[in-house]
Amino acid sequence: MKQKPTMEILGTGRAVPDRILTNKDLEQIVDTSDEWIITRTGIRERHIANPGEPLSTLVVKAAERALTDAGVAPEEIDLIILGTVTGDSKFPATACVVQELIGAVNAAAFDISAACSGFLYGMQIAESMMLHGGYRRILLVGGEVLSSMVNWQDRDTCVLFGDGAGAVVLGPSHGEKGILSTYIKSDGSFRNLLYSPGCGSLNPPTPENVGQMLHTIRMEGREVFRHAVTSMSDALNQALDKAGLQADDLSLLIPHQANLRIIEAVGKRFHAPADKVYVNVDRYGNTSAASIPIAIDEARETGRISSGSLVGMVTFGAGFTWAAAIVQF
Ligand code: ACO
Repeated sequence: MKQKPTMEILGTGRAVPDRILTNKDLEQIVDTSDEWIITRTGIRERHIANPGEPLSTLVVKAAERALTDAGVAPEEIDLIILGTVTGDSKFPATACVVQELIGAVNAAAFDISAACSGFLYGMQIAESMMLHGGYRRILLVGGEVLSSMVNWQDRDTCVLFGDGAGAVVLGPSHGEKGILSTYIKSDGSFRNLLYSPGCGSLNPPTPENVGQMLHTIRMEGREVFRHAVTSMSDALNQALDKAGLQADDLSLLIPHQANLRIIEAVGKRFHAPADKVYVNVDRYGNTSAASIPIAIDEARETGRISSGSLVGMVTFGAGFTWAAAIVQF
């Protein structure tokens, strides 16, 4: 039986840096080619933050657009949850920076670290905070400036990522519209297949550690690929089951935008025709926690999501973490 939602999406917004880095630009930086990148990943270009453009600037823009779209004033926000692994600084939480900058004076604010799964992890947290914590207007954001932790000499990884932020404003649901189910899962035994070894308490940012680029991203691409397809399929099945729905019921599937081949493999497992699977990885690359909320906002703007749309969202990231949600618009 179809679930009754606790909360619904009242508004959405997104922001990406103006600066675009194309595959041709990357050919000047590392030994790669436009053809290799497109064939293996589907990525054509990505937006990269300029120096002096920290995560909070993107999050603030996305958040303000979502608030305007929702018709909600900053003072009405009582909770800010930001999924990110590239905050402005180690502490305080970038959510607190954003709180001040947007004037959400009545909110509590915190960051969560679930890598590419940050936004959907945040959605389950928001649901529970609304149900049990009495929060009524929650700003949920996924945002990353992954370019700040990319090793620009490592062609295995530097071609994959982009920067951006996507935001939603959530409020209690009074009808059929809203978040029908959420599902989250992790397996820390795979944490060393995709990680950054440095600049935490394990390997503090000494000159030696920074010199060895320990603060940048390390990845076993093939293993990540394999786990991503299996785990995303599992997560979507779990979320569909929880919602009492079948994959055929979905009008749109928004998979995490990491790699076109992962997106297509997941779509195929659910027999989803191409026009029911959202793709924008060609224009943004992998924006990690931002990828799903950017896609939601774009899909609403372009009419791919409208009133009545039933949307499945599914993701996978470092940890490993994975998650899914089913949303009735
Ligand atoms: N340009 C040219 N050649 C390259 C590049 C590049 N940018 N990167 C790697 N290569 C070379 C390799 O060195 C290798 O050469 P060799 O055969 O001489 O050794 C060859 O290309 C093949 O490398 P593979 O790693 O086997 O290539 P694969 O087909 O697996 O594609 C990729 C690599 C795109 C990283 C793929 O494994 C992948 O997408 N994995 C998922 C990774 C991912 O999405 N991570 C993001 C975070 S997790 C997430 O968001 C889901």
